[in-house]
Amino acid sequence: MVLGARPQFIKTSIVCSLLHDKPEMELNLIHTGQHYDNELSRLFFEELEIPEPLENLGVGSGTHAEQTGRMMIGLERTMLKLKPDIVLVPGDTNSTLAGAIAASKLKIPVCHIESGCRSRNMAMPEEVNRILTDHCSMMLFAPSALAQSNLRAEGIEEDRIHLVGDTMFDVFKVCLEKATRSNAITDLGIGSSSYVVVTVHRASNVDDRNSLSRIVDALVRLKTETGLSVVFPAHPRTLKNLDKFHLRTHLERGNVSVINPIGYLDMLKLMQYAQLIITDSGGIQKEAFWLHVPCLTLRYETEWPETVENGANWLVGNSSESIFETASRLLSDTSIRERIAKVSNPYGDGNASLRVVSILETASSEGKLRLRS
Ligand code: UD1
Repeated sequence: MVLGARPQFIKTSIVCSLLHDKPEMELNLIHTGQHYDNELSRLFFEELEIPEPLENLGVGSGTHAEQTGRMMIGLERTMLKLKPDIVLVPGDTNSTLAGAIAASKLKIPVCHIESGCRSRNMAMPEEVNRILTDHCSMMLFAPSALAQSNLRAEGIEEDRIHLVGDTMFDVFKVCLEKATRSNAITDLGIGSSSYVVVTVHRASNVDDRNSLSRIVDALVRLKTETGLSVVFPAHPRTLKNLDKFHLRTHLERGNVSVINPIGYLDMLKLMQYAQLIITDSGGIQKEAFWLHVPCLTLRYETEWPETVENGANWLVGNSSESIFETASRLLSDTSIRERIAKVSNPYGDGNASLRVVSILETASSEGKLRLRS
């Protein structure tokens, strides 16, 4: 299994522990080192009890080609040494793509977890990663019926596609219970007051001064005009750019609480009691939906369109006006949580990880894990 970025640690934690407990399977985790800060990596291994990686390639940051290239070189070396029967790659990050390409060129079957999601925006690095990974994978584990139909529409053979549900939902279900123990809300001093949670990290939002500045303006206005607390656990990339563009003081003067990234359990607890979530993350759009908290997404499209169609997620891009206007409208709608709670979950029943492992076991025992010639 190739992992490297925060969302991958979360979405595979149950698959990893199930595989780890199977005496007939040997799980080797290879961490690419894409995420290297403790708050984006180590914290999640500890909290979610993910087995220690066999190796950390330590590739760190860089341009897309530098980062992906360094990963491919390291992964090829490791795969030649380990000679795995299967390489599992989750999600849509550069680590996913590097693992899929390195393995498929060595003729090792690739299994993609979270396959078939499409945002239809090829300017997003993750969309490129998703499509390329899917097309060089032998087993594609789709999280929803829509993802399954996307794969069919791209001509992928039926016997390669497995609709299993979303492994992230499995982890969400298990961790929500554990998150009741989190003191995140009291530790942040929010007490019983109403608040909004914000996360922003996409290059399209945070690498451009004007985009980030529009988002910051909307958050400060939201805090000033509604009186709600605004809590903003910021990704290191975002923190760096807030400083680079001299925007952090504007947020702080506007009393927006910019904090360092937090762990999964603290984040779940914080989101669960929020009035509204504002994000550009993929995973958080679904978590908000599962928690019945309205979500405002700072993008123009999403690879999770079911959340929008079901009236739980609003795509507002990064215009200051539309962020503020939509947030205000949603905050004054008192029946919204109730409406979201009535929607059935298109992302499975919480047993996706079990299905992934059982499909792998069956394929392995039937000798089906071989690449087509
Ligand atoms: C990556 C994924 C994105 C995922 C996100 C979750 C790709 C293309 N993107 O984006 O899909 O939603 O992870 O967080 O793979 N940095 C640090 N410390 C770290 C890691 C990164 O400071 O531990 C900073 C560096 O300045 C780096 C920048 O963040 O240049 C971007 O990091 P990178 O891993 O390339 O992409 P993410 O934005 O984290």
